[in-house]
Amino acid sequence: MHEATLESGTETRKLHVITWGCQMNVYDSARMTDVLRPLGYSPVDEVEDADMVILNTCHIRERAAEKVFSELGRLRKISDARTALGHDRTVIAVAGCVAQAEGEEILARAPYVDIVLGPQTYHRLPEMVARAARAGGSVIDTDFPAETKFDFLPDAAAPQTDGNLTAFLTIQEGCDKFCSFCVVPYTRGAETSRPVVSVLAEARRMVESGVREITLLGQNVNAYHGDDGDGGSETLAGLAAKLAAIPGLIRIRYMTSHPRDVDQSLIDAHRDNAAMMPFLHLPVQSGSDRILKAMNRGHTADEYRDVVRRLREARPDLALSSDFIVGHPGETEQDFEATMQLIRDVGFAQAFSFKYSPRPGTPAAGQPFQVDETVKDARLHRLQALLREQQDAFNADMVGRVMPVLFTGRGRKPGQMTGRSPYLQPVHVDGSDDLIGQTVPVLITQRLTNSLGGTLQRERACA
Ligand code: 5AD
Ligand code: SF4
Repeated sequence: MHEATLESGTETRKLHVITWGCQMNVYDSARMTDVLRPLGYSPVDEVEDADMVILNTCHIRERAAEKVFSELGRLRKISDARTALGHDRTVIAVAGCVAQAEGEEILARAPYVDIVLGPQTYHRLPEMVARAARAGGSVIDTDFPAETKFDFLPDAAAPQTDGNLTAFLTIQEGCDKFCSFCVVPYTRGAETSRPVVSVLAEARRMVESGVREITLLGQNVNAYHGDDGDGGSETLAGLAAKLAAIPGLIRIRYMTSHPRDVDQSLIDAHRDNAAMMPFLHLPVQSGSDRILKAMNRGHTADEYRDVVRRLREARPDLALSSDFIVGHPGETEQDFEATMQLIRDVGFAQAFSFKYSPRPGTPAAGQPFQVDETVKDARLHRLQALLREQQDAFNADMVGRVMPVLFTGRGRKPGQMTGRSPYLQPVHVDGSDDLIGQTVPVLITQRLTNSLGGTLQRERACA
């Protein structure tokens, strides 16, 4: 590592960030890039060109640690190749949830790693880079500091946009729910919410730069209780109302929600706030009361059905997506059937399903009655077949409907434009560039493999 250049704030150093995992990590990677800019780091696409590489990791499912070590081996080779050409070696940082959970182990097994930092300490990254440069050794920072990173991160240099029309905005982090299978409460720490003023300021900047749809992010986003600047706290519904008042912001989404935190104000918001999209990711994990209890989810299958019923009463066109785990310790055939029944009862437009995999340090990992892998495979297969059927039926049902489509860019064929439906389905129409950024009603005429085709209905009004 080269001290002089690290301490200089002006010389350009090249940064490459590798991001695994959820949208939250994508967001964090962008913010890490932002905090390193004042130190002279600018992002590059090729890892081989980088003076510093951040590996932003995800721990939620299996074999995360092994994947990290194999990636670190690859980065070390790249760094060696650079030094052979007379460059400084690559500064390597490991961030994210694996860093949080296995920081010591990483430094022990991969001593060439310079920096290990947990998701709560990104705002300290510049200091760590400087400290690592001075010490010439490795630094580790995986605390949960009393101050939250939201208080310390600078404003996003550039909004995190996808084509500048849709963007993600983190408003909440961490989780206090302690589901039996999940590492998040250990890796991301306690639930914290970002203050309302800071969320609104970032949202306004996004909208000014052209963003029309914002997805609010958080591990438990509907547990949001950000400081309202008035000695109180704001709910997600309250925040969404304030966001909807920003002229130009047309669509609001949020994920991921917990069924226990769907309160009446949020249900009402789906009825009253036109910007709230009628598509909700609401993980249920299992449809068996016994397993839900073992998972420490804090609700029954019927309570989930009831939340869904109330949401659909408020917003009849609401569609749901969910997460499922098959083979949680103790899951019997009967429990699994209860999950299948819940899926039939609720009907999902989309879903993510996983075989249970033990995460070290979580309560479920130590439980007896682990389910056999072959049983898990068979159950996952059946569950996914049912969910696929539902997803196909949902998409097929779009044909003949008129839906507001937010146009985001050109399609693959000349003269074709593409956008997204309220349910995040890609929609193609014949049209011209002036559609980009507009929300226009579209009559869906065709269901394609992974998208929908339609025709513009400009004469119709569109919310
Ligand atoms: N095994 C399998 N799936 C898991 N998930 C979280 N932890 C585990 C685990 N140990 C799934 C849950 C969660 C999603 C993000 O990942 O379904 O909602
Ligand atoms: Fe994990 Fe449960 Fe918290 Fe979701 S609610 S992040 S599954 S502990």
